[in-house]
Amino acid sequence: MAVDLLLKGGTVVTEGGPVQADVAVSGGVIVGLTAAGEGPSARRTVDVTGLHVLPGVIDTHAHHREPGYTHKEDIITGTSAAAAGGVTVSCAMPNVYPPPNTAKVLRDMFALYEQKSVIDYNINAASSNLEELPALAEMGILSFKIFMVVDTGRDYPHMPGIGVHDHGKLFKMFQGIQKTGLPLMIHPHDQALMTVIEEDYWARGEKDFRAYAKAYSSYDGVIWDSAVSTLLQLQRASGVHLHILHLQTRRCVEMIRAARAEGRAVTSEVNPWTLWLGNDCANIERLASYALSYYVEPHHYQAVWNALLDGTSDMIATDHAPHTHAEKAPGRENGWKAHTGTPSVQEYVSLLMTDVNDGKLSLKKAVELLSENPAKVFKLYPKKGAIRIGADADFAIIDMNAELVLNDERVISKCGWTPYAGRKVKGLPLHTIVRGKFVFEDGKVVGEPGGGVKATPLTAEQAARLTAAAVSV
Ligand code: DOR
Ligand code: ZN
Repeated sequence: MAVDLLLKGGTVVTEGGPVQADVAVSGGVIVGLTAAGEGPSARRTVDVTGLHVLPGVIDTHAHHREPGYTHKEDIITGTSAAAAGGVTVSCAMPNVYPPPNTAKVLRDMFALYEQKSVIDYNINAASSNLEELPALAEMGILSFKIFMVVDTGRDYPHMPGIGVHDHGKLFKMFQGIQKTGLPLMIHPHDQALMTVIEEDYWARGEKDFRAYAKAYSSYDGVIWDSAVSTLLQLQRASGVHLHILHLQTRRCVEMIRAARAEGRAVTSEVNPWTLWLGNDCANIERLASYALSYYVEPHHYQAVWNALLDGTSDMIATDHAPHTHAEKAPGRENGWKAHTGTPSVQEYVSLLMTDVNDGKLSLKKAVELLSENPAKVFKLYPKKGAIRIGADADFAIIDMNAELVLNDERVISKCGWTPYAGRKVKGLPLHTIVRGKFVFEDGKVVGEPGGGVKATPLTAEQAARLTAAAVSV
């Protein structure tokens, strides 16, 4: 009997590494992996000779801005940009209005995604209402999220009321979330230290984008290191699965490595701006606040990169953070006035593929960081995150030889710009497939709003059943 779709002639990056194989899909799942040229007959056959078939990319950290801030981005533009970047699952962050910290608000927000998302999705719920944690956890979320930041000089992206930095309150949240069994994502930040650091800069009259960058990196990253050190103690005491966001300093890497060596439930992500943008002074001079999520001195880069390569850090997630020109431009004079953050969801896979082409990491390792590990950490594996029998037919099909100078004209995000403009990349997504359907085809977004479904965590039994199915076929 003919299958629905056959991807024929490509180099398929499986968990074992790249192999020449045909991939057969029916009913939205992978039903066959055969030697090249031996795939079954199919209702649609797509010749992917010369291309690499990767599992769909899973971005567990994206700011889609809907509801509340849709002048920056919305679910349709954000998930379309993601589709063009090879992403098949995108997880939204809760700094929207109203923030999803009650079951009712989260339900309404999921209803928006159901109507609008072009790819599969989930939402990381805000954990600021302790009494709501059990109800939120029942709604199929992958994780909770806490910001420790309180904005000064602006009211976004960390709106009043969203930051939690009191250790006692944090500890209560850790304990409450531990009981749900879900992971807790945290943006580490020592607000008390940051407050006095900022005051010193302002007292000296230093307020421009350089001062902002330096304030965040003061004392060689002390606001990050102090926060992670505290968070790791609260993790040890509560036993929660702690997922540390924005890993970017050498000492944070060392602390995480030590905690993992003790077998503790500590995972982390690295963002594109740490690897390819903001930790380079030349980019900050050129782009001012447009290059700033957060800066630390360049010497930290190697430790973070090594952490990705040796498994100390688990994944690359975008922290895709679109802001308008009007919100970024004031940063040249006053860095604290610019909304912080950088968009990247359409570009980050290409930036990593360029590193693969440059021999900095293997394709297998890149796939672990982009797909397999996010799926494992957030319990989507083995339904998602790998090309194996029984898994969802989610693919990022990459032309590893295609070259492009990144530019603003191709940007799908509503913000209309990329801080990576002018950067030459080699290795571009050509097609993106979600559960057997093309959402990005020959370089064009073809997915429909409402085509995505919620990607929910698997129970241990579901995961075991899928693992057994892959072996038995
Ligand atoms: O740079 C950032 N941008 N950091 C955050 O914590 C939030 C994000 C945003 O929403 O723009
Ligand atoms: Zn973020």
